[in-house]
Amino acid sequence: MTEVRNPFADPLRFERRVPECAIVIFGAAGDLAKRKLLPALYRLAYDRRLPASFAIVGNSRTPMSDEDYRERMREAVKQFSEDGDFDEELWKRFAANLHYVAGDVKDPQLYLSLKEKVTATGQANILFYLSTQPSYYTVIVDGIGHSHMAAAPDGAWRRLIVEKPFGHDLGSAKELNSRIHAVFREEDTYRIDHYLGKETVQNILALRFGNGIFEPLWNRRYINHVQITAAESIGVEGRGGYYQEAGALRDMIQNHLLQVMATVAMEPSAVFEPDAVRDERAKLLRSIKIMRPEEVDQYAVAGQYKGFRQEPGVNPDAQTDTYAAGTFFVDNWRWAGVPFFIRSGKKLPKRVTDIAIQFNQAPLALFGKAAGAGDGEQKARPNLLILRIQPEEGISLLFLSKEPGSGMRLRPVSMDFNYGTSFGERSPSAYETLLVDAMVGDATLYTRQDMVEASWTVIQPILENWNNRRFDFPNYDAGTWGPAEADTMIAKLSRQWRNS
Ligand code: BG6
Repeated sequence: MTEVRNPFADPLRFERRVPECAIVIFGAAGDLAKRKLLPALYRLAYDRRLPASFAIVGNSRTPMSDEDYRERMREAVKQFSEDGDFDEELWKRFAANLHYVAGDVKDPQLYLSLKEKVTATGQANILFYLSTQPSYYTVIVDGIGHSHMAAAPDGAWRRLIVEKPFGHDLGSAKELNSRIHAVFREEDTYRIDHYLGKETVQNILALRFGNGIFEPLWNRRYINHVQITAAESIGVEGRGGYYQEAGALRDMIQNHLLQVMATVAMEPSAVFEPDAVRDERAKLLRSIKIMRPEEVDQYAVAGQYKGFRQEPGVNPDAQTDTYAAGTFFVDNWRWAGVPFFIRSGKKLPKRVTDIAIQFNQAPLALFGKAAGAGDGEQKARPNLLILRIQPEEGISLLFLSKEPGSGMRLRPVSMDFNYGTSFGERSPSAYETLLVDAMVGDATLYTRQDMVEASWTVIQPILENWNNRRFDFPNYDAGTWGPAEADTMIAKLSRQWRNS
């Protein structure tokens, strides 16, 4: 049955009409383009979010005709689209807007060919997307600059989306920023962090600032600590070459999880506008206490799973962290003294990303033994607010309740909100959200230069410590919750990981 929709039913969507434009994707035959970008663009077409006149121009080194490229992307979209049946008719219309230019990003001729191709599509606005190996970013930006493709005619725009990783340390991130700024203005530079595009991450702000009951408790008087976990059961999945240089601290914590932490801990902005929200996120990142070199061993833990060194493309004595955990403190009035524990790793027991806000334990003495079997258990029953980012999407509040029956025995129960059942509709993927935002010129969910530099500053002491030492790796078995040192790190502050 075809769905009949009232186009005026969703005023927000109506206001955020995507303007006509061309998206030029560098790295267009790569993994990200196949798994995320093209499926997201196709889905936007499916949802009629794209304008009638629209173009995608892909580039990579592989020689291919437009037709070959369309065929490849058709297969990719079919394979990687997470939901919805593949609609052949729609694909035909969508694919007519797909173009391809083969060429080496180091060759100045490539940019002239791209310019010609974009001109032929008749599009005045251009969104460039850097999705190649990061070492090519500066070459491409220079190439765009030299070919004058970054200069927009009156009334048109040029924007640049830069995929992560943005640099590999503070120095290289600053260098990349200055090279980009030689060609693109900061307001036209969109550094993507797909975690910020996830519905469940955006919902943290709605939960905190749209309700009256949480914010009064959201501080050091009531919150004991916060745990942010991003666990993956997969290993490096053929990305051994990239991953062995990056490691979990750079790959997940420097960007995604510090942004999540900033979202959990930031102050409310006066208005919900891109720079107002980003100012607050940036301020929070700048308030994270920077570890002194002698504190790194106490507050950060690296791990590597057994078998990582045998993965394709990985050096047999790689020092890469496939697991990283850190303890961070925020030096401000709201959070002083509250530890934020962050951990992320590959080959852990399950795929789960969540944030656990643990409140101070209520004094249960009045219930005596009824609160649990003994003192030990009483300690382990604080209220928890769990923000479930994925794969389950929702929020749970854990509290104690009376067990039915005579007497007074307490048992922990959970109050659950689940996105799927509550809204009964599909949530857009992070890339759908972020692509639309970049096309309409809304940078709220993109990271700004000062935010990227602040988060590199936070992890720089850990990177320096880890670069100068040899770890006794591997130190955890695949399918476990990481190295024992991570438990010790948190136990030293009298806390323990949930579900580990
Ligand atoms: C990417 C990392 O940024 O995020 C990957 O490079 C990781 O290593 C991925 O697997 C996780 O994203 P998600 O959305 O699946 O949690």
